[in-house]
Amino acid sequence: MDIKGCIFDLDGVVVDTAKYHYLAWKKLGAELGFDFTEQDNERLKGVSRMRSLDILLEIGGLTISQEEKEAAATKKNEWYLEFIHQMQPDEILPGVLDFFNQLKENNIKIALGSASKNAVLILDILKIKDYFDVIVDGNSVSKAKPDPEVFTQGAEKMGLTAAECVVFEDAEAGVEAAKNGGMRCVGIGEQEVLSQADVVVSGFTEFNIENLKAL
Ligand code: G6P
Ligand code: MG
Repeated sequence: MDIKGCIFDLDGVVVDTAKYHYLAWKKLGAELGFDFTEQDNERLKGVSRMRSLDILLEIGGLTISQEEKEAAATKKNEWYLEFIHQMQPDEILPGVLDFFNQLKENNIKIALGSASKNAVLILDILKIKDYFDVIVDGNSVSKAKPDPEVFTQGAEKMGLTAAECVVFEDAEAGVEAAKNGGMRCVGIGEQEVLSQADVVVSGFTEFNIENLKAL
């Protein structure tokens, strides 16, 4: 089946915001009195803010009230936003814009499929919003990855079927979501973590339109 649309996760695929999420969660962990490692952070990739907080608290062995949770999530997001506002367009991951341009030249649509509620802000800061035909983010979905909702909505809004779309993901939960939605998936990261993807590459310097067409 010909590919007519590509759906991109944001954090860790288009831009390396994953490191800022990590630093903000680590700071929250430290404030709550425990260490939060990079390995622990793998479990938060692609996971919504509140669910991430639950996982963080589980790692720290802490139970807090709903009210305290809301306050902690707000605090984490404020720290995260401080990092985001300092981001420069050169933090777009290598090869991404080149790949977007190849898609445009081939009339392949581009969608965003991110769990982040900050997605549009980040696209604005990086000045790349105009590349996207469709944006689905954490404000428009009710079910989190590995539920396929974010990608299914992306395909629908592009007017395409799942079989016509390819998803790009750096998170295990995201790859699962793509597969649950019946879509082909390119994993961005490590083979061991993303083994369910159809192909895994380290980034867009290793992937071009010819590779896409060969999927
Ligand atoms: C993405 C990231 C997660 C993050 C989630 C929510 O999926 O991979 O690490 O927790 O978005 O982001 P937000 O910006 O809404 O807190
Ligand atoms: Mg991601």
